[in-house]
Amino acid sequence: MCAIIEDMNTPIISIDHISKTYHPKRSPDVVALKEVSLSIHAGAFFGLIGPNGAGKSTLIKILTGLCIPDTGTVSVGGNDVINDYQAARQMIGVSLQEHAFDPYLLVEEELYITGGYYGKTKEYLKKKVPELLEQFNLADKKRTFTDKLSGGMKRRLAITKALIHAPKIIILDEPTAGLDVALRHELWDILETLNKKGITILLTTHYLEEVEHLCDEIAIINKGSIIYQGDNKKKGLTENSELEQLFMEMVDQHESDPI
Ligand SMILES: Nc1ncnc2c1ncn2[C@@H]1O[C@H](COP(=O)(O)OP(=O)(O)OP(=O)(O)O)[C@@H](O)[C@H]1O
Ligand SMILES: [Mg+2]
Repeated sequence: MCAIIEDMNTPIISIDHISKTYHPKRSPDVVALKEVSLSIHAGAFFGLIGPNGAGKSTLIKILTGLCIPDTGTVSVGGNDVINDYQAARQMIGVSLQEHAFDPYLLVEEELYITGGYYGKTKEYLKKKVPELLEQFNLADKKRTFTDKLSGGMKRRLAITKALIHAPKIIILDEPTAGLDVALRHELWDILETLNKKGITILLTTHYLEEVEHLCDEIAIINKGSIIYQGDNKKKGLTENSELEQLFMEMVDQHESDPI
């Protein structure tokens, strides 16, 4: 069943008591998430921050159905990400931290195929693909094989793939890592415009000034637990002092917590 939630006060993403332990073959178990609960309302620009290994990417993979949690539930727009996965996935555009492209595909083919996966028509894609390639400065690379792109160009292609089906929710795992300054600011503008149109955005990043500038809500995750959630009152500031201070305080406070 597909539920559609448009009310700005209703959570569009509900994460309820999610736990995840990895069981690698040759090393001890890794507890990646412990009883994580999080609510993100429709239209939010949400920043998820935390140290390396805190569990951010694991949470994103669970949200997008790429990783199955041990316990807990996640719903997106009222659709359970496991039981109603088709409806849930249709609502989300995701750019993962490690993106992989088919090396035998040209840049524009990669986008057409992704659009096809989401059931988009040829007519729609003929308009949307050039539009996105232009917006992300990849128009002159449309006939280049994906493995011949630079690191920053691959990152840009990953973001265009996330946007191809005009999703209601965009989830970006460190989207600006490796982007040059000009493109980082261009991406900020694009994301702000999308958010103003009502698109919900969930972003992870290690650049705290990015969160301070863009996000209206933040959560800090450390060792698999949410240790802080609140509004970003100083949204729009470009100096990172206050958020950086909060981040360091919260992480230091939980330094002795067991993983
Ligand atoms: N497939 C996997 N198998 C085993 N352990 C994993 C796997 N994926 C992640 N982990 C472990 O789970 C923990 C959380 O990793 P995760 O990638 O979610 O962190 P992160 O917050 O995204 O970190 P970063 O900021 O470095 O990207 C880490 O200890 C990591 O080594
Ligand atoms: Mg990560």
